[in-house]
Amino acid sequence: MRINGKSVCRVLLMAAVAAASGADCLAQTAQSSEGGAWQPTHPAVRIEEYAGPASCAQCHFAEPEKQRTSEMGLSVARPAESRILSGHPVLRFERGAYTYTLQREGGQTTFTASDAHGKISEPIFLVVGSGTVFQAYLIQHGGQYYRIPVDYFTAQGKLGLDTEADPTLPTSLEAALGKALSAGDVRGCLRCHSPASVIGDRIDISSLTPGIGCEVCHGPGVKHGTAMEAGKPAGTGIFSPAHLLPQEKAEFCNQCHTSAASMKAQNPQGVHGVVSPAYRLEGSRCWNAADARLTCTSCHDPHAPLIRETAAYDGKCLACHAQPSGAAAHADRHGKACPIGQRDCAGCHMPKVPVPNSPIVYTDHRIRIAQVGASYPE
Ligand code: HEC
Ligand code: HEC
Ligand code: HEC
Ligand code: HEC
Ligand code: HEC
Ligand code: HEC
Ligand code: HEC
Repeated sequence: MRINGKSVCRVLLMAAVAAASGADCLAQTAQSSEGGAWQPTHPAVRIEEYAGPASCAQCHFAEPEKQRTSEMGLSVARPAESRILSGHPVLRFERGAYTYTLQREGGQTTFTASDAHGKISEPIFLVVGSGTVFQAYLIQHGGQYYRIPVDYFTAQGKLGLDTEADPTLPTSLEAALGKALSAGDVRGCLRCHSPASVIGDRIDISSLTPGIGCEVCHGPGVKHGTAMEAGKPAGTGIFSPAHLLPQEKAEFCNQCHTSAASMKAQNPQGVHGVVSPAYRLEGSRCWNAADARLTCTSCHDPHAPLIRETAAYDGKCLACHAQPSGAAAHADRHGKACPIGQRDCAGCHMPKVPVPNSPIVYTDHRIRIAQVGASYPE
């Protein structure tokens, strides 16, 4: 999705960096597997069919416990429930003649833009992003949505100018409020960050749990809960991506995580393509679309926070690669053994790629022999 010719989120940040054109994030990432399976970005939410995560937690224990602290579970918050905003009663940022303040009072956070002549104050309406790297804030002013020009940067512990904000100094208080967004633009953010918060055309963050909850990926669950209580066969009335083929599983995730096809269509230059795990993974010699050992969910539990110790992924590599060094590949471990390392495979073979002029660092999913100082392979 592009607004005023600029990309709007971390997924697309690299598109802005590389000044790629025609990157319609939604149109291109919303492609999905055929066959009528449940779509997580499903637009037609019928609220009465949703049971809420508390209902799932009555019968399923492991997933709700892990999901509570996962990035996806926290990808949108109501201002009253935002952990970052409640942990920071006052946040301030100076920009030329303007001061931006986020002030917490009685469970509400108010955004104020002020200069020597006056000020505009509005309550924060929506918190977007778990804040793993940064968090964005939306307000409403005069019937218009705005993405305020400052984000909270977690590593720095303070507000900073949004890396995609207009770099020229604003010339009025109104202009200092940030980027104007249409309701369609806000629905665009929610389509990936909290799809169940869009009911018809209406943005509703009060009724359902915001973020990417159980029913975003598994579909509405009232029928399933009732069927389980009635003793119907296990799993009746609910969609499980566990039954999809490896490639379909990746497509399921890639409705929100840039797919290989949509990245190819952007003709990525330089490090731009790293934003799309699928695009990079498919360029690796490990890649085999039919092998369940190399789809997104082989390495990532969609219910849990991302595991950040790269050595924890060793078992995923060794499912295909022989070990120890010198051992010959064989039928079920058809990948060769490493002559160099015995552990932390991803630490050497999935290098980290920083996004220029931003605090964001992506992991190159194109598994490869990465030589120190060598250029990034397209
Ligand atoms: C009354 C108890 C109950 C409730 C409430 C419930 N489930 Fe289940 N669910 C089960 C049982 C029993 C099974 C079958 C055994 C299993 O897979 O754990 C199951 C299976 C599943 C499966 C696997 C389906 C398959 O085809 O393999 C998923 C996914 C699932 N539930 C998700 C949910 C979600 C999401 C919610 C909340 C909206 C929920 N469940 C609410 C009892 C329940
Ligand atoms: C409905 C859209 C959607 C779907 C479907 C989806 N994701 Fe996500 N995912 C997101 C968003 C949005 C974030 C960013 C959360 C945040 O930090 O605010 C995210 C974050 C993540 C992260 C953590 C990234 C980080 O930098 O902290 C991982 C890992 C991940 N997703 C894996 C998956 C996998 C695997 C699947 C498929 C099983 C999947 N996702 C399906 C939208 C989605
Ligand atoms: C096509 C799906 C998609 C759309 C649309 C989208 N995002 Fe994202 N966003 C993601 C994913 C996926 C991530 C996780 C990082 C990654 O993999 O790039 C993310 C990350 C973020 C983050 C950083 C989260 C963190 O914890 O560091 C913020 C903030 C954010 N998005 C805000 C927005 C806003 C605001 C909009 C709308 C103007 C928006 N996004 C639209 C998918 C999307
Ligand atoms: C980002 C998408 C996503 C979210 C959110 C999500 N799930 Fe899942 N869930 C999946 C995927 C994908 C699988 C299949 C995993 C696999 O194949 O390894 C799965 C599998 C399951 C299963 C096991 C099904 C089986 O057949 O083994 C259950 C039960 C389940 N989820 C319940 C939940 C509950 C409860 C929640 C909310 C706390 C939840 N899920 C949230 C994507 C998600
Ligand atoms: C072979 C294992 C493996 C597979 C398969 C895999 N990933 Fe990853 N992924 C990783 C590792 C390792 C990291 C980095 C973890 C860390 O160090 O923080 C990572 C990080 C991520 C991140 C966080 C952002 C980043 O770039 O660091 C997202 C989002 C993500 N993966 C999504 C996906 C999606 C979507 C797929 C499927 C197309 C996928 N991954 C397939 C191993 C894998
Ligand atoms: C689905 C099976 C599979 C998985 C999982 C897998 N690989 Fe591979 N990998 C292969 C195959 C097959 C090849 C090509 C044959 C060979 O050279 O061994 C390969 C090649 C490689 C190469 C050589 C690349 C080149 O360009 O010459 C490296 C390095 C590598 N894999 C590392 C890893 C690491 C690290 C992981 C885990 C993060 C991993 N692989 C996961 C199957 C796999
Ligand atoms: C310290 C960094 C490092 C670690 C850790 C490491 N590797 Fe390697 N790996 C290398 C380098 C460098 C090469 C290239 C060696 C050469 O060309 O002589 C290589 C080569 C490979 C190859 C190609 C072998 C061939 O004969 O073509 C595979 C496959 C591989 N590694 C897999 C792995 C796996 C699996 C792990 C984890 C058990 C791992 N590596 C851990 C640095 C590392």
